[in-house]
Amino acid sequence: MKVMVIGSGGREHALAYRLAQSDKVTDVYVAFGNAGVDLESNKKIKRLRIFEYDHDALCNNAKKLGIDLTVVGPELPLSNGIVDHFEDQGLSIFGPSKLASQLESSKSFCKDFLEKYDIPTAEYATFDDEAEAISYIKQKGIPIVIKADGLAAGKGVVVAETEAEAFEAVNNMLSGNQFGEAGHKVVIEEFLKGEEASYIVLCDGVNVLPLATSQDHKRVYNGDKGPNTGGMGAYSPAPVVTPEIDSKIMNEVILPTMKGMIAEGMPYKGFLYAGLMIDTDGQSRVIEYNCRCGDPETQPIMLRMQSDLAELCLAACNEELHQHSIEFDPRPAVGVVLASGGYPHSYGDGKEITGLENVDETQTKVFHAGTIVQNDQLLTKGGRVLCVTSLGDSVADAQARAYQEIEKITWHKMYYRRDIGYRAIDRENTAK
Ligand code: AMP
Ligand code: GLY
Repeated sequence: MKVMVIGSGGREHALAYRLAQSDKVTDVYVAFGNAGVDLESNKKIKRLRIFEYDHDALCNNAKKLGIDLTVVGPELPLSNGIVDHFEDQGLSIFGPSKLASQLESSKSFCKDFLEKYDIPTAEYATFDDEAEAISYIKQKGIPIVIKADGLAAGKGVVVAETEAEAFEAVNNMLSGNQFGEAGHKVVIEEFLKGEEASYIVLCDGVNVLPLATSQDHKRVYNGDKGPNTGGMGAYSPAPVVTPEIDSKIMNEVILPTMKGMIAEGMPYKGFLYAGLMIDTDGQSRVIEYNCRCGDPETQPIMLRMQSDLAELCLAACNEELHQHSIEFDPRPAVGVVLASGGYPHSYGDGKEITGLENVDETQTKVFHAGTIVQNDQLLTKGGRVLCVTSLGDSVADAQARAYQEIEKITWHKMYYRRDIGYRAIDRENTAK
């Protein structure tokens, strides 16, 4: 089987790595990929220098290369209809249609859907008028959460602790054009308390198979402080999701979502990522849906996955997921993102990365994100550069191993958090 992965981040490197483990898979092409793909020791993994927005070129190459399955990493090609485009040409592609991917691409679509199908989420209202938005904020009080309606690369959410912050966020989005078209409508919602977890499932339109649970760290600094980023590290499983909470999530969130999407005439096929807030009573509420895998959650999840991902994605394209099960290594995995100093604000590219050859890869995999090779040198090219991901007998052990390997890697102004997985480690320590 020949597979194509669309995307160029750490998530796509991890998906390609796992897809290539299948005995049935002969080639995994990653478009556009990164230097990690070029340097892969598994020679089934190859790079295809076609950008993820070039649907025609991707489709033509899929036909030319005889690709049997395409897996889409990022949200943008999905919300631009790449799945519809491929399927119109008779190609198998794992991902939601343009309509179904509105669960991520429009926060107001998502919130209206959740309300209609009685799926637990924060109370909310939608506005395009600034005065009305401000009067709603005054009525509800702080803390309160302001979200740009459209895709804003994870940056369109402001958790406002003061009225002034909330007014400023609304003003920036509605009048200041901060996120362009994506911010011309805002969703204002209740602040939810609790612990976040990422719950990602494979869907075939009707059936679902959950991946292992995970948790990421979105804030840039230790202790979950500072601005939001795409994610500074993640681990799997997330112990906050106990078996009881897990089955509640399936019954109250995931299965009603699948049924609701069928009722809306847009059955959901692809990875579905529920970002959940779990409160102290064990109630889970949907913070957001993503129509793709998480980055960096995918890196630890793929390191733990033991089943044949290519077979599962193909089964999902044929609505046959109910005939399959999915296995994960019981050992936890922790992934620490190594970022360019300055991220998520401005940072410089082109710094030479050294030391990767010294990493002991027995229980560790270094997934690449923003990297390129130029004149035989490995250079940074992006905010999130690498994700060093390790397995261990406990989260503490996996974390210690990841940090031990990170010591061997360096570049000018490399930055990373020192506490990835701390909540799970606190739980491990309490249980002792
Ligand atoms: P989102 O892009 O919707 O996932 O939001 C980014 C981050 O903002 C989430 O991961 C949460 O940490 C936080 N957040 C979003 N919505 C809420 C909410 N209603 N209550 C509390 N925190 C939230
Ligand atoms: N790590 C969060 C996301 O992928 O959206």
